[in-house]
Amino acid sequence: MKIAVGSDHAGFEEPPPYYKPALVEHLQALGHEVIDCGPSGPGSVDYPDFAKKVCEVILAGDAEMGVLLCGTGMGISMAANRFKGIRAAVCDRPEMAWLAREHNDANVLCLGKRLLSLREALNLIDIFLATPFSNGERHQRRVTKIDTVAEAS
Ligand code: RB5
Repeated sequence: MKIAVGSDHAGFEEPPPYYKPALVEHLQALGHEVIDCGPSGPGSVDYPDFAKKVCEVILAGDAEMGVLLCGTGMGISMAANRFKGIRAAVCDRPEMAWLAREHNDANVLCLGKRLLSLREALNLIDIFLATPFSNGERHQRRVTKIDTVAEAS
């Protein structure tokens, strides 16, 4: 699978392990093709800029899924969810990663570096990528409404 990955400076936060390179290495070791949207070092950056890069790669069809990381996962998910067609889910436990895929057809997993051990973060990625959307009629109806309900109001 092609997966776009991005973070803010939390991806290189001290002390090691640095999460962003670790996520990239983990995905590559699983055989995925990673599109690394940056950043490439620890300098302070703004998470909306990297959410945008990942979302644009997905919306262009150059990646099927995305993984975003910031301190909490919250800011970068808020930015990502402004892009129509992106369903970014902040997950901090296995049930959330599983249900974000099965019920919400999430296409971006958002992780909080300051809230998760690296092992927990990698486990959430594995669950997210392994879980298919249910395709249940009610779930599809609701997912479709995510992109239309605001326009209709
Ligand atoms: C940056 O220090 C921090 O605010 C950011 O990584 C994230 O936690 C925001 O939601």
